[in-house]
Amino acid sequence: METNKLYLYPVWVRLWHITNALMCLALILSGVSMQYSNPEFPFIRFDIAVSMHNISGIILSAMYVMFFVGNWSTSNGKHYRIRIRGLLNSLIKQARYYAFGIFKGEKPPFPVSKEMKFNPLQKFTYALTMYFFVPLVFITGWALLFPGMIITNVFGFGGIQITSLLHVTAGFLISLFLIIHIYFCTIGHSPSSNFKSMINGYHEPH
Ligand code: HEM
Repeated sequence: METNKLYLYPVWVRLWHITNALMCLALILSGVSMQYSNPEFPFIRFDIAVSMHNISGIILSAMYVMFFVGNWSTSNGKHYRIRIRGLLNSLIKQARYYAFGIFKGEKPPFPVSKEMKFNPLQKFTYALTMYFFVPLVFITGWALLFPGMIITNVFGFGGIQITSLLHVTAGFLISLFLIIHIYFCTIGHSPSSNFKSMINGYHEPH
């Protein structure tokens, strides 16, 4: 019986999400391996890590098109629209709940509904990650794949250096997001219920 369950994750969101998550993991593993590569004891052999990074980056970019078009053309996009008015207050309210209220058994200040599936902190971090950091990481990634496209000199600094600095910084922040994201996903009806939601599409209320 799905009576009080909410259908929040349509098939395309789940398809995008699982591919995106797997590609991000492959990118982080191969990226870290290349960054700290030691030819004697490579975590992943360098040439394999390079191919793995390039292929998963290309798949991630293609899936991003699916995410972008999906959010633009369906009602899922409304969950990512941030209203500046009252933003700070709602972020503080949600953070206060996570820091104290949740431990005192208080009710969540922004319960999940069809109209509002993300709480303000989720909405803010998802929008920032998906509309700023992920595009930044794949645009700089494509530029590094075709370095001929990069401006050689930006105010006296090497263009490739700046591009790779932006790429690594965005990759690092996405990795940080991922750790926090997975931790917060364990806060639900049960520690595993949000993960099940991303498989069957239905959210189980608190
Ligand atoms: C092993 C990796 C991951 C796991 C286990 C995971 C888990 C989940 C779960 C359980 C949800 C549903 C709960 C919710 O809406 O908050 C979710 C949603 C979401 N995740 Fe992840 N995630 C992973 C990786 C990622 C990555 C790498 C990104 C982005 C770079 C990401 C972005 C999102 C977004 C934007 C949503 C909301 C999708 C929507 O309903 O529109 N996730 N994730």
